[in-house]
Amino acid sequence: MSPQVFRDFQRIYPVITRGKGVFLYDQAGREYLDAVGGIAVVNVGHGVPEIIAAMTEQAQRVAFVHGGAFANEPAMALAEELATWTPRGLRHVLLLAGGSEATETAMKLARQYHVERGRTSKYRIISRWTSYHGNTIGALSMSGRTAWRGEFVPYLQNFPKIHPPFCYRCPYGKTYPSCQIACADDLERVITLEGPDSIAAFIAEPVIGTSAAGVTPPPEYYPRIRAICDKYDVLFIADEVITGVGRTGKNFGIDHWGVIPDMITTAKALSSGYAPLAAVILHEKVYDAIARGSARTTQGFTYSGHPLSAAVGLAVLRYLKAHDLVANAARIGRRLLERLTSLQRFPIVGDVRGTGLILGVEFVADQATKRPFPPDAEVTRRIVEATLEEGVVVVPGMSGMIDGVCGDHIQISPPYIFSEANVEQLVAALEVAIQKVMREVEPSRA
Ligand SMILES: Cc1ncc(COP(=O)(O)O)c(C=O)c1O
Repeated sequence: MSPQVFRDFQRIYPVITRGKGVFLYDQAGREYLDAVGGIAVVNVGHGVPEIIAAMTEQAQRVAFVHGGAFANEPAMALAEELATWTPRGLRHVLLLAGGSEATETAMKLARQYHVERGRTSKYRIISRWTSYHGNTIGALSMSGRTAWRGEFVPYLQNFPKIHPPFCYRCPYGKTYPSCQIACADDLERVITLEGPDSIAAFIAEPVIGTSAAGVTPPPEYYPRIRAICDKYDVLFIADEVITGVGRTGKNFGIDHWGVIPDMITTAKALSSGYAPLAAVILHEKVYDAIARGSARTTQGFTYSGHPLSAAVGLAVLRYLKAHDLVANAARIGRRLLERLTSLQRFPIVGDVRGTGLILGVEFVADQATKRPFPPDAEVTRRIVEATLEEGVVVVPGMSGMIDGVCGDHIQISPPYIFSEANVEQLVAALEVAIQKVMREVEPSRA
C-alpha cells in the first residue's frame, strides 16, 4: 500500500495517468468523462498544448522569485488581464496559491480596511449556512459546512451565520416571490442584533458551490444584500473560487445580478488546474483606504505571485477569450440544465438547479414532500459510484446539506468545452445509476 495518506483511508482510488480534453485515463487505460472538471477547476480541458507551452516557456525563464523582493512579468501581465474581466472598480489583484488562502486573506484585508479608517471594533465576518469558503481556520470559521467544522469548532471564530437563499428548501417555509426575499433581510437583522460596530464584512458564494451545488438566488437578492452592507459600513466579499472566471456563463457569478462587490476571491478556473493559483481582487475603495493609510499589507505567502502559476493563469485567460469559452459555458450550461431536469421523471430526483456550468441534482425519498433519505442509506455515495461504473465522473455534494445530518446531492461542473454529445453521455450514465440506486434503496423510500 502507498505511504501516501488519502482522504478516505479505506478506499482504493483509481490512479489517473493521463487527461485529454474532457476525458481522463487510468493506469489500465480506462476512459472517464470528467463531468466535474476535477472539482470545478478544469475549464479549457486537459492536456491543452497552448497552456503546456506557456508553462514550459516560463519554467525555462524562471520558475520562482520571492514576491517580497521582486516583481515578475507573468504576474504583472496576469493582473492586467484579470482586471479586464472584473466588475467596474475592481482592478487591484493579489495573487495567491489556493482558494482558502484567498478567502482567509480577504477576511484579513476586510479587517485591515476598517482599521486603516479608524473603525477598529469591526472584525467579525457574517456568512451563510450551507456554504464553503475553505478549510483553514479563518476560512472554516466563515464556512457553514457542518460536516467539516465538526471536531474543529473549538478552534473556530464565533462568526454569525444567516440562512442561505435556498428556495427549494426555504428555511422560512415561504415561496418566492411572496417571501419578499426574507433571507436577504435576515442579514440586516443579524447585523443589528450582533451590533454593526463589530461586523467587518459579509461573504457569500454568488451561486452556491460544493455545499448545495447550483443554488441560485432570485434577482433581487444581491442588490438587497449590497444595500444592507452599504447601510452598515460592511464590506461585501463575493467568494468566486468556484463561480469566477466564466463558470456561470458570465465572467464572474455576481455579474448575473449587476452588483459590485468590495472584494472578489477567485481560484480554480483561473489556472484551469494546470498550476495552483488564486486571487483576491480589491475594489479601489478598499485598495485606496489601505494605500492612504499604512500602504502595506502583511498578506504574503511564499508562493504569492508565483511566476509559473501566473504564466499559466495568463495563458488560460487568453485561451478562454480566444475560443469564446465563457459563452460556451452559458450555452452548454442551459442545455445541460434542460437535460438534467428530465431526470425528474425518476421518483428519487428532487431539485435540479444551476447557472452555467455549476449544477446540482438533489435526491429525495419522496418528491412530493421533499423528504430526504436517511443518511445511512448513503444515496449520494451510491449514485457517484454507480455513475463512475458507467465511466463518468460526478462528485458528491456536502453531506447533511439540509440540516447538518440529511441531504443527498451531486455536483456537476464540467470543463467549458463540454459538447452536446458529452451532455448526452453524462445524462445516460446518470439514468443507469439512478435506476440502479432506486432498486438498492427501495425499502428506505417506503
Ligand atoms: C467557494 C469556495 N471557496 C473557497 C474554497 C477553498 O478553496 P481551496 O480548496 O483551493 O483552498 C472552495 C473550494 O472548493 C470553494 O468552493
